[in-house]
Amino acid sequence: MKGQVNYKVIDNIAILEVDNPPVNPLSSGVRVGLVDNIKKANEDRDIKGIILKGAGNAFIAGADISEFGQKMEGPDLHSALRDLEFSNKPVVAAINGPALGGGLETALCCNYRISTKVSILGLPEVNLGLLPGAGGTQRLPRVVGPAQALKMMISGTPINAKKALEMGVIDHISENDLIEDALAFIKEKISVTDIHPKVRDLNEKVIEARGNGNILTEARALASKMRKGQFAPGKIISCVEAAISEDDFDAGLKKEGEFFLECLLNPQREAMIHIFFGERAASKINDVPKDTSVFQIQNAGVVGSGTMGGGIAMNFANAGIPVWVLDQDKDNLDRGMGVIRQNYKMMAAKGKMSEENVDKVMSLIKPTLSYEDLRSTDIVVEAVYENLDLKKEIFAKLDEVVGENTILASNTSGLDIDALSSVVKRPEMVVGTHFFSPANVMRLLEVVRGSNTSKEVLATVMKLGKTLNKVPVLSLNAPGFIGNRMLYGYTKQANLLLLEGALPHQVDNALESFGMSMGPFRMMDLVGLDLGWRARKLANLETPLVNKIAHELCEKGRFGQKNGKGFYNYNEGSRAPNPAPENEEIYLKVSHENNITRREISDSEIVERCIYALINEGAIILHEGVSQRAADMDIVYINGYGFPIWRGGPMHYANQTGLEIVVNKIQEFAKKDPDSWHLSPYLSDLASSGKKLGDAPDAENRKEILNFRKNIDI
Ligand code: 3HC
Repeated sequence: MKGQVNYKVIDNIAILEVDNPPVNPLSSGVRVGLVDNIKKANEDRDIKGIILKGAGNAFIAGADISEFGQKMEGPDLHSALRDLEFSNKPVVAAINGPALGGGLETALCCNYRISTKVSILGLPEVNLGLLPGAGGTQRLPRVVGPAQALKMMISGTPINAKKALEMGVIDHISENDLIEDALAFIKEKISVTDIHPKVRDLNEKVIEARGNGNILTEARALASKMRKGQFAPGKIISCVEAAISEDDFDAGLKKEGEFFLECLLNPQREAMIHIFFGERAASKINDVPKDTSVFQIQNAGVVGSGTMGGGIAMNFANAGIPVWVLDQDKDNLDRGMGVIRQNYKMMAAKGKMSEENVDKVMSLIKPTLSYEDLRSTDIVVEAVYENLDLKKEIFAKLDEVVGENTILASNTSGLDIDALSSVVKRPEMVVGTHFFSPANVMRLLEVVRGSNTSKEVLATVMKLGKTLNKVPVLSLNAPGFIGNRMLYGYTKQANLLLLEGALPHQVDNALESFGMSMGPFRMMDLVGLDLGWRARKLANLETPLVNKIAHELCEKGRFGQKNGKGFYNYNEGSRAPNPAPENEEIYLKVSHENNITRREISDSEIVERCIYALINEGAIILHEGVSQRAADMDIVYINGYGFPIWRGGPMHYANQTGLEIVVNKIQEFAKKDPDSWHLSPYLSDLASSGKKLGDAPDAENRKEILNFRKNIDI
């Protein structure tokens, strides 16, 4: 059994310490330990009270997430918490670190709660496709009121100790030693009363909410805004509705149990837990041991003050790391710094940061025109536009000035990292760090491993990614890396669908209904249709069939959102797409010119073709070893490309759909269009052997298939 509860006594107070490193989830051994030790304390006449704390730096991080969907050992959490709640000795929760999910629910079963200043408290179960199933939906509304409780449970965002005290979730913040304070606190309570409060008895706030329909209406609006397509939020609202309307606490608890089970059985739960563990696994590199030494990153530099450079610099400043922003052009640099300040001001205006903090972060971002200023940096991220020669020139210059322990990173979205490392003296210090736009917002960071990148550099950048509040995912140095490579097949299908008879809004609506945050044509309008068009003109290249419609639109001056017209029309200052019926004759013309007979296309065909193209390319990437594991691609798609988290990412979605079904469909598509569809042999093998997309294949498969990859036009 996993975990335990340690028992010791100080001054007739039993100290129960939940010990299940690193974050003390309520695994089977902890539940057994709670039941046994509460009994022990209750049966010992000398014990006057109980303090419940966590070992190490966490209180309790909730139920053990790895147990969901598995056969449960030991007592269930409800029995353990019932013993705690009905302990005949008063219990104080000494919250020494994160009290999340079942952790906060445990604390709410104690008579009192005191916390350190730095602890966080919350009910984030919704992020796992669940609801707080250990009484949280019934107890939190009794403490903070149903409206606040709903906000906390639907957002899943924890609160800090100060806020928790204001809201009444805790009784006291410890400024000194938590256990000493907890001892003094409980002794004081014992000295004045024999009756200690139970949250289940606090009915005032739920009764007050009866008949106030606004609370639930507002919660529903919040859920549809924040958690579109998700199953659990509606069930959380139903639980709180029960808390408000049921007179009997246990009746509400029973309803919570029923709704919890529904969430547990819903495929969204499995998908979201897959993402929870996938996100944590993504920063681990198979051949880079955990104890690999890392470089300290105390100073950074960014080359290029454009949108990406500015956004990347903001990441460093937000993490408290001073950063130089270098540009060769004074006007560009001034403009870039202005944009950064403007971004921060907008955040302050939206209440996302204080004015004081704006000045603080801005003071960490220093503009420069001179490479000399980058001399003492620990990492420099090059973030100029995608031109290999220019990037090589910059790397050569950096190589002359920076120290031997400075990491040289490129924010390229697909260029060859080895070509960049070929121009420096220490190729092992070169790595790709592909941020996503807007770089200060998007969580994904593709970390690209060149042939020479050292393990220390990789370990450092993975750690840095987390410091910058990103989700770092490793990719081998292959064209388009993971994300853009997969995107190619997806947008190709979208463009073909347009040629075959669908309209942009139909394709976008179908994929947005599937859960994508933005359909492909809205995305293309956002990125700009003219990029490929200009590049092809410059290089005198023929326009491939899939790009012919975008080409015609550009010829008519329709470049996308940037000039208010692309696949859609945009009103000045608005990003909302309006249909552009004037484009329809272009679609008809291009289809006709290419001998394509337009036809009615169903939404299900749109979704299958676009999503299965993602999956197929993902399987090829996995087989090549460009990505370490299938879940990494799910993390990339959820954090960088707006794939719905509740579907668990494209690879998990494939597993849930059934690989055989996916493969059969791809074969069907390939029969009609053999030029665009090349079924991944790996996917086909997995399907026929009844396996799932899971572990990465052996490294020796890579070389052979990397040749295939070179033929892909990203
Ligand atoms: N169960 C099982 N394992 C957990 C866990 C949990 N509740 N919480 C964290 N872990 C594991 C992680 O998988 C990771 O394992 P690894 O080292 O093998 O990769 C390890 O603990 C450390 O976790 P992090 O890397 O996330 O550590 P951080 O220090 O960055 O963050 C934390 C700590 C803030 C506690 C974060 O881990 C967290 O948010 N955990 C999840 C909290 C949560 O969602 N709780 C609700 C659980 S569901 C529940 O309680 C249902 C109940 O209502 C019935």
